[in-house]
Amino acid sequence: MMIAPEQPQHAAGIESLLDDAFGAKRHAKTVYRLRAGIEPVAGLSFVATDEDGRLVGTIRYWPVLVGGATPAILLGPIAIHADWRSKGLGGTLIRYSLDRAAEQGHRIVLLVGDAPYYARFGFTRENTLDLSLPGPVDLDRFLGLELVPGALAGVSGLVGRADGSSAPADEQDGLPAEAADGNRAGELAGPLPLPPAPILSAAVLPATVLPPPDLGPSASPHRPRRSARR
Ligand SMILES: CC(C)(COP(=O)(O)OP(=O)(O)OC[C@H]1O[C@@H](n2cnc3c(N)ncnc32)[C@H](O)[C@@H]1OP(=O)(O)O)[C@@H](O)C(=O)NCCC(=O)NCCS
Repeated sequence: MMIAPEQPQHAAGIESLLDDAFGAKRHAKTVYRLRAGIEPVAGLSFVATDEDGRLVGTIRYWPVLVGGATPAILLGPIAIHADWRSKGLGGTLIRYSLDRAAEQGHRIVLLVGDAPYYARFGFTRENTLDLSLPGPVDLDRFLGLELVPGALAGVSGLVGRADGSSAPADEQDGLPAEAADGNRAGELAGPLPLPPAPILSAAVLPATVLPPPDLGPSASPHRPRRSARR
């Protein structure tokens, strides 16, 4: 198993993985408003491939602005091929990418997803109580993580598009809240502007050394603001 930066040639495989994981309606979600027409965060899109070179995992992040002023990144989508789930790969991709995000100086990570899964990485609903999203979302699924302790202190307001533009109106208006979560949300198709990058030798992860699913946030330099371990 290997984790490497996403390259343009991965785009089709990623779309296939996302279709399998989230279905055809994945574009009609609230977080898609924050992503549409905006490029993912450079250097934070990774893929996992198996020993035969098949693409079995993807993770991307999008930039957002909180309250029109505070930069943050939106985790997702993440998807793991059905044959590879519950083997620790999702957790490895999340921890690896969060570590890279911290190294790049990002301070706040937001997502819409299942708290029972994301709590193990330090994401909490408490961290987003003063924030809102531009559309219907099950708020129990709106989670945040401070990569830098205190990064969310005093931060409040609407999570908006990184370019400050209004969210595009689309067919998601009127969706029921549970259909409007972010991590089951849509993704942009097409190649990404990531520069060619070498395979990350440090990220070569034989399946036998994948961490257990509940390794916990200790594997990352960042710490949750509040204890949120499962
Ligand atoms: C969610 C996903 C990325 C996790 O990747 P993974 O490689 O299977 O996850 P890990 O191996 O790191 O962790 C597996 C553990 O997480 C749990 N888990 C997986 N998805 C979960 C979810 N949505 N809610 C709660 N727990 C979840 C598994 O039951 C397993 O628990 P266990 O260790 O107690 O057996 C992957 O299952 C996937 O792509 N699913 C389809 C897309 C999807 O449903 N995404 C929604 C997430 S909000």
